[in-house]
Amino acid sequence: MITLKALLKSGQVQLENYSDSAIEDCEILLSHTLNKNSAWLIAHSDSTLTSEQALAFQTYLRRRSAGEPVAYIVGQRAFWEHQFEVNANVLIPRSESEMLVELAIQIVGSQTPTLQTQTIADMGTGSGAIAISLAHELPQSKVIAVDVLPEALAVARRNAKKIGVANVRFIESNWFSNLGGQDFNIIVANPPYVALGDPHLVQGDLRFEPSGALCAGPNGINDIQKIINQATEHLQPNGNLMIEHGFEQGSKVRKLLSNAGFNNIVTHRDIASLERVSCGSLE
Ligand SMILES: C[S@@+](CC[C@H](N)C(=O)[O-])C[C@H]1O[C@@H](n2cnc3c(N)ncnc32)[C@H](O)[C@@H]1O
Repeated sequence: MITLKALLKSGQVQLENYSDSAIEDCEILLSHTLNKNSAWLIAHSDSTLTSEQALAFQTYLRRRSAGEPVAYIVGQRAFWEHQFEVNANVLIPRSESEMLVELAIQIVGSQTPTLQTQTIADMGTGSGAIAISLAHELPQSKVIAVDVLPEALAVARRNAKKIGVANVRFIESNWFSNLGGQDFNIIVANPPYVALGDPHLVQGDLRFEPSGALCAGPNGINDIQKIINQATEHLQPNGNLMIEHGFEQGSKVRKLLSNAGFNNIVTHRDIASLERVSCGSLE
């Protein structure tokens, strides 16, 4: 029988030509097969698999070799402080988007305690990663999580239940169209922002992610533009909009914010020093 140590080695060799993160992928897939964490794998490296487990592991490796993202194979991805269920109806949450959570928490923290009961909208919530992380971090806040896709909202609702947040409500809506006269202190959004026909869409994980979560018109800006324009009708005085965008879209987004009447416009860079989130406030 082959040991875990040897399995990890042979799995890595199998994935090497298909994945830039073969070692990490293999560990996650083996942890998932055994329902054990990586520390357990190290401590039990001389253990062996049952034949069912070996078969399951081989199936996962084959799926990964065919390009399927690890997060979809194991059905979850870590974001902020929790593991979020994901499936092919939702974008796999990216660590870059944690900046939206961080910035919203900073704004709430800067208010006097009486003003810390904020209303927050997360536009295009997908798995709910951003909305649920905010609801968990800011238990006094009321969070509205919006998506146009009912299948995505079903995933987000399950995540909210599993994580145990009660201060988030999910609404099916084409951006703000079903929100009536609701207005918010903070609106966060990670909308689709890839241009149709972008060559990245036929590479890597993006091939498996829903195009409705990725693509936004010929230059990727359509949804950002809609959100910026519609947000002006849904922000309370001194409310803030923070929107994630492509690293080459910063100047266009700042211009859109300015044209829509936003002040205090600033763009934050991600860990790779790329322009990633632009913010503005309304008086
Ligand atoms: C880039 S994904 C972001 C998902 C999630 N917020 C995250 O960061 O992982 C964009 C999300 O916007 C949703 N979406 C696309 N068009 C929409 C629309 N017109 N109205 C509301 N949501 C929309 C998609 O279904 C998708 O879940």
